[in-house]
Amino acid sequence: MRLNLLINHDKHEMEIDPGTSLLKALRSLGYFGVKHGCETGECGACTVLLDGKPVNSCVYLAAQAEGHSIETIESIGQHPLQGWKRTEGFHPLQQAFVDSGAIQCGYCTPAQILAAKALLERVPNPSEEDVREQLAGVLCRCTGYLKPVKAVLRAATMARGEVVEPIDSLIPAPPDWFSEGEAHPGQDEAGYPGADLPTQTQVMPRVQVTPETKAWQRVGKPEPKVDAIKLAQGKPAFTADFEMRGMLVAKVLHSPIAHARIKMIDASQALALSGVAAVLTWKDIPRVIYSTAGQSDPIPGPLDSFSLDNKVRFVGDRVAFVAAESEEIANRALELIKVEYEALPTVLEPSDALKSRAPQLHDEPEYVNFGESDPTRNLAAQIRIDIGDVDKGFEEADHIFEHEYEVPKVQQAHIEPHVAVTYWDEDDRLVIRTSTQVPFHARRQLAPVLDLPIKRIRVVKPRIGGGFGGKQEILIEDVPAHLTIATGRPVFYEYTREEEFMASRSRHPMRVRLRTGLKADGTITANAMYALSDTGAYGCHALTVTGNTGHKAMALYVGDGPYRLSPNIRFYADVVYTNHPPAGAYRGYGVPQGFWPLERHMEKIAREMNLDPLEFRLKNALRQGELHPFSTAWSEGREPRPEIIQSCGLEECVSQGKAAINWDRKFRNPVWHLIPDKPFARRGIGVALVMQGTAIPYLDMGGASIKMNEDGSFNLLVGATDLGTGSDTVLAQMAAEVLGVPVDDILVYSSDTDFTPFDKGAYASSTTYISGAAVVRTARKVAERIRIRAAGILNEENATNFKPDEIRLVDRLAVAPDGNRVTMSEIGHHALHHADQEQIMGVGSYMSPVAPPPFAAQFAEVTVDVETGQVVVDKLLMAVDSGVIVNPITASGQIEGGMTQALGYAVCEEMQYDGEGRPRERDFRNYHIFQAHEMPDLMTIFIETFEPSHPFGVKAVAEIPMDGVAPAVGNAVFDACEVEIDAIPITPEKVWRVLAQMDVSLNND
Ligand code: FES
Ligand code: FES
Repeated sequence: MRLNLLINHDKHEMEIDPGTSLLKALRSLGYFGVKHGCETGECGACTVLLDGKPVNSCVYLAAQAEGHSIETIESIGQHPLQGWKRTEGFHPLQQAFVDSGAIQCGYCTPAQILAAKALLERVPNPSEEDVREQLAGVLCRCTGYLKPVKAVLRAATMARGEVVEPIDSLIPAPPDWFSEGEAHPGQDEAGYPGADLPTQTQVMPRVQVTPETKAWQRVGKPEPKVDAIKLAQGKPAFTADFEMRGMLVAKVLHSPIAHARIKMIDASQALALSGVAAVLTWKDIPRVIYSTAGQSDPIPGPLDSFSLDNKVRFVGDRVAFVAAESEEIANRALELIKVEYEALPTVLEPSDALKSRAPQLHDEPEYVNFGESDPTRNLAAQIRIDIGDVDKGFEEADHIFEHEYEVPKVQQAHIEPHVAVTYWDEDDRLVIRTSTQVPFHARRQLAPVLDLPIKRIRVVKPRIGGGFGGKQEILIEDVPAHLTIATGRPVFYEYTREEEFMASRSRHPMRVRLRTGLKADGTITANAMYALSDTGAYGCHALTVTGNTGHKAMALYVGDGPYRLSPNIRFYADVVYTNHPPAGAYRGYGVPQGFWPLERHMEKIAREMNLDPLEFRLKNALRQGELHPFSTAWSEGREPRPEIIQSCGLEECVSQGKAAINWDRKFRNPVWHLIPDKPFARRGIGVALVMQGTAIPYLDMGGASIKMNEDGSFNLLVGATDLGTGSDTVLAQMAAEVLGVPVDDILVYSSDTDFTPFDKGAYASSTTYISGAAVVRTARKVAERIRIRAAGILNEENATNFKPDEIRLVDRLAVAPDGNRVTMSEIGHHALHHADQEQIMGVGSYMSPVAPPPFAAQFAEVTVDVETGQVVVDKLLMAVDSGVIVNPITASGQIEGGMTQALGYAVCEEMQYDGEGRPRERDFRNYHIFQAHEMPDLMTIFIETFEPSHPFGVKAVAEIPMDGVAPAVGNAVFDACEVEIDAIPITPEKVWRVLAQMDVSLNND
């Protein structure tokens, strides 16, 4: 049908199918600021304004939009400088989003800005509640909504012509800043967040600054993200925002059966369909076994996957690939592929997997073992770690506590789905443009699968719309790549949201048993954990994720006195294959699975032994100067090497967090636990202590190159992959600090396997630490060349004799001790054009021999409805030692977003399957992630320590907020109503069942 659309005041005439969604129509016209996140109207990424009102364009027909005015992000505002042309610049909302750190991956940003614009046009002076209600329709998996909400309030203030405070100075948290007993802003006398919470636009966290950083110019400052300007405009920065002439659309036929052999497959009818370019089955492509886990070489896990196999192992496993001229034709072709399955018995219960007669998932002769994996026993990995003498430790104990806990399968649920485009370039090299966390691993691991040498593959990583570990997987790139090889044409493949839930990765569910021996004074004498971990149908990340469950969580408590010197710790795990979708990497990487049991267990012990829960924990916790107990016992399947903890701010985290949340006024205070006028409600407060790691020692490497331009700007090329975390920005800040220029002068490009140096990619919370150290090394080399040239220029001009190392680089200047100076631009011109011409350039790389852990104290406050079991989390507060904080605004955004994901893990997220292995959750309606109006109060306090193994003293930030929320909430629920929940998520039904058994009286007197 012929259609006339009015988009951003421009008229468009187009010929489309009547069933075409407005989303598709807009993107086909080049409005790439409208994003795809689902197909069912639930994520809001596709929001546009129709006559000024937000609509979800994915569920709105283009035909319905005729006669209406459509507004997309492209019309809102532009960069003020467009060459000689000047625009009106940014809309206050765009500016506020950039300034407030409201943009992480930026995939939801156009939709949030448009939704907010509609609100501000209606309500110029909105309350925070108004803003949260308005943003509720746009899911964001990165931010925790705090900064987007504050950005909208800031924009409203700006639009009203009122003055907003600059976001540039730190809010200090000196040791005594939070004094016990003091009511804080937004809290009532009982220290409870009240209705009087003032509307404010504060987005900076509290930072207790370490003295080493005080003179720094760029590191430690809340610089705006280097990619924020383009993301606020909805520029075509993501993988799907890329078009090529003749590009085909790929689709995958997924298995409807959990375990079966493919007896017969016939693609002839599908191939005969007009518009179908290729159909591939297992018979058509090379049979190459590999691992989809994006990890360094050699992969620390079994090789057990094929691009296509003659056997399927879960509902959603791959059966065939199709490439067609359109998505509709590709979908029709899938229906025409005839498959006969021979159903096989399934293993759906992990505890059945190891039984002697259990059906074997991997009987293929090509299977390659790693470590203790044994496919004949459905064992993807086995871990047996004994530190000290655990049996003796139990013999010496006065008390032994033993309990079992459970953690569910949950999804990363990044709003941008997995997406990749492949094509042959003019040199017959295969280009893979993909939303990946691991471009270099992808190139290396795909080469044998595609039967191409590494040098004939180029992987390009554009902006990523969130990953959280889900894109540390070579999950879909082989699909379009095989189809490009088959057809010679460019191929586009993007998961639907249903495919994300059916056929991508997830967090490993586990059943965990803990046994702890203690002296009467609370000294831990021995601590033992056993984990039964379900890796699903394939063993990607099986060993390393589950290993970290013990390695990071069980390392926190070493005991006290003689036990501190020689701790007794055991961690055993079996990682089994089942006919569920494979688990994989998910932010936290096994560690949240360890801390839910460990910190619930510590709480039970403290309560049963009548010990103060914080004193008890700190008495037994690891301290600075001590050996990381697992460092000599296990290293992801490689040789372990001893590592001393060189920085640990855990005690200070406890002290600051305790004071900030008014712990002493609430804990064990019966008055605080009751709410006047709400006899059915009980308040509770809980805590968990946690630690993580930073990078993988002696293995993962990052590289960087820096090139100086005439104007004194620099191109910083890194293989590191910013997946929305702000890593490009913190790397630029470090380079800027060394080179003495503003961050604006550092032009970051990441990443392209042809142009940027190698980097292991974004995982293990390693980018700021590993890639950052590589950037510092590189910048120092460039700075040295600049100083040499500057000294030459200045000495010649002024007849002085200064040495290069006497020249300071600051404020775009090279300054001699006598005050004479030369600008960076003059040095750039001099080097490239005037004398002894050279390209000032450097390259550097870094691999760390240590993995310094960040530490944190996570606090939670909840209200439990003892009639219904409903748990409302009122407040989450995290006091965290992540070393020096390079950018407090992006780092606090990481903590807020991480706590929010962890909150879902605590109370509502779970992937469930029926008796046939079919997923129950296939969309965002049934898989609930937190929305803006459901959020608790979030607070972050950074307790800086200076980690001596890094030039700027940094440690990891990104993963640790995943670890402590669930146990802190679980402990708070117990504190509120004495309900012990040992399996997350803590649903109302679970709480209600326990309450019903306890027969809790509402009268409570
Ligand atoms: S893409 Fe339209 S609501 Fe998700
Ligand atoms: S910033 Fe909202 S989804 Fe990433």
